[in-house]
Amino acid sequence: MRVTAAMPRITENEFGSVCEVQVFNIVDAEFIAPGIKRFVIEAPRIARKQRPGQFVILRLCEHGERVPVTIERSDRQRGTINIVVQSIGKTTHVLNSLVTGDSILDVVGPLGKPSEIEKFGTVVVMGGGVGTAMAYPTAAALKRAGNRVISIVGARNKELVILEREMREASDTLMITTDDGSYADKGFVTDKLRELMESGTRIDLVLAVGPIPMMRAVADTTRKEGIRTLVSLNPIMIDGTGMCGGCRVLVDGKSQFACVDGPEFDAHLVNFDVLVQRNSMYREAEQKSMAEFRRDAESQVEACRAGMGKP
Ligand code: NAD
Ligand code: FES
Repeated sequence: MRVTAAMPRITENEFGSVCEVQVFNIVDAEFIAPGIKRFVIEAPRIARKQRPGQFVILRLCEHGERVPVTIERSDRQRGTINIVVQSIGKTTHVLNSLVTGDSILDVVGPLGKPSEIEKFGTVVVMGGGVGTAMAYPTAAALKRAGNRVISIVGARNKELVILEREMREASDTLMITTDDGSYADKGFVTDKLRELMESGTRIDLVLAVGPIPMMRAVADTTRKEGIRTLVSLNPIMIDGTGMCGGCRVLVDGKSQFACVDGPEFDAHLVNFDVLVQRNSMYREAEQKSMAEFRRDAESQVEACRAGMGKP
């Protein structure tokens, strides 16, 4: 397992033993939409190696849950990575309570196979909600590789549209949809994809990143035309190294591990029913943990800070 860390800090316990604690400092943190926060984290070794399509797994405190998180970009010179986190469960709520100057106990990565970047022709890159953060670096790399990139970004409403400027720069054409019509065109991302297909636009590849119903709908839309389509899967993950089996997905009838065999897979071969079923396995436990967290959010965030070596 490749564990990389930044800024080792030395602590001394009551018996005078010295322990090297490695932490990842948050050098910037800002909400980019309600419940969605972008962090800039010092992680020079990850920044050096990160390629589009890869992710990291974070752990906030010693006995904390491990969560896979999207890398939006990295800056090799500064030695930082940007991650984008949506508050969904307890751990992501705690994470999004952290601010500049806080730190994260450990960050493992970069994980997963990088996106395949070559000249395909015309590529449609689709980002659903916070999945846009994962789609962005791949869109940018595909454009640099000489593809015509048509991006479609969808969100529930205007406030939840993220990375519009970045996606515009990474695309030849950017289309935006909101479910409620509060910004740009009303509808789902798949409505725009269908329009493109009906207009006779030649599409050589589609990449979709977002919630499972969206990725399934994209797969259904392109299947009949036989357009090569990739989806980036985001199942529950634990170790991120192919050892625990937590992220098992069924692709073409075979078990695959999203953390090492993916996260991108041929959308037409993914068994979405199994994905939905496995992702809902821990729903009850997650809801219980979230309810406990809500009762005492402040002290849990403080406990987590203390666990990171904060006073
Ligand atoms: P959301 O539910 O608000 O949906 C975002 C957009 O996806 C919608 O605006 C719509 O355009 C499209 N969409 C949703 N359901 C659809 C359907 N049935 N048919 C067609 N299009 C549909 O998304 P959110 O609340 O931002 O949630 C993001 C989800 O993405 C989370 O569940 C998160 O776990 C997941 N995620 C996935 C990845 C990944 O790598 N796949 C990365 C980050 C997050
Ligand atoms: Fe353990 Fe993928 S997260 S096998």
